Amino acid sequence: MAARRKLIAGNWKMNGLKAEGLQLASDLAGRLQGAGAVPFDMLVCPPFPLLFPVGEAIKGSPLALGGQDCAPKQKGAHTGDTSPAMLKDAGCAYAIVGHSERRQDHGETDAIVAAKAAAAHEEGLVAIVCVGETWAEREAGKAQEVVGRQVAGSLPAGATAANTVVAYEPVWAIGTGKVATPQDVKDMHAFIRKELQARLSDADSVRILYGGSVKPDNAVELLATDNVDGALVGGASLKADDFWAIGTSCR
Ligand code: PGA
Repeated sequence: MAARRKLIAGNWKMNGLKAEGLQLASDLAGRLQGAGAVPFDMLVCPPFPLLFPVGEAIKGSPLALGGQDCAPKQKGAHTGDTSPAMLKDAGCAYAIVGHSERRQDHGETDAIVAAKAAAAHEEGLVAIVCVGETWAEREAGKAQEVVGRQVAGSLPAGATAANTVVAYEPVWAIGTGKVATPQDVKDMHAFIRKELQARLSDADSVRILYGGSVKPDNAVELLATDNVDGALVGGASLKADDFWAIGTSCR
């Protein structure tokens, strides 16, 4: 099996003003620097207005910066949007696309998500493409069908292990404290790996993250699960101690 370095990604969502964001990011950057060699990459994805100050604060540190979304275009008359070129300018190396909150709140389809990922790739950003079923879909026995369709529709042409990370986030596990069982996670990640193998020549090197109520007390088990190559963390990424504890759960 291809060696895949784990990625611990913090999605701050719409949380944090400048002072706390700077403190959180600087704290994590300091811990990472002090820790020396660690078996994971660490990423924070603050709200857009904080990208520039946080980017400046962590410049030169091993802590990576990402956007929570990006536009499918680089510039132009698109009020309220933020382009991958702008993310890159702020120091980002990553962009989350297709988070279920974007799919739900903003009607983002697989085609829109794929266009955003393609635009991120154009600027040399790694796209973290999110997929995941709702509880009703899981109850109806359609979890794999839904996730398979999302993977097929949300990955743009030209996706590779170097420019794409997939995040499996069951919608019902996000922010709810409900976590998918290790067996469910193992099964879905194996399924996603197979779907990737059907599409990408370097599928075995693609990192597949799990997201949905990842906390310090469940991180060791989740991160030790087959084909779990890291975590996309919401709530627990807002506290430096918790997020750091999740990172150091990587073996
Ligand atoms: P959560 O969010 O860790 O708060 O469940 C995860 C996510 O939405 O990325």
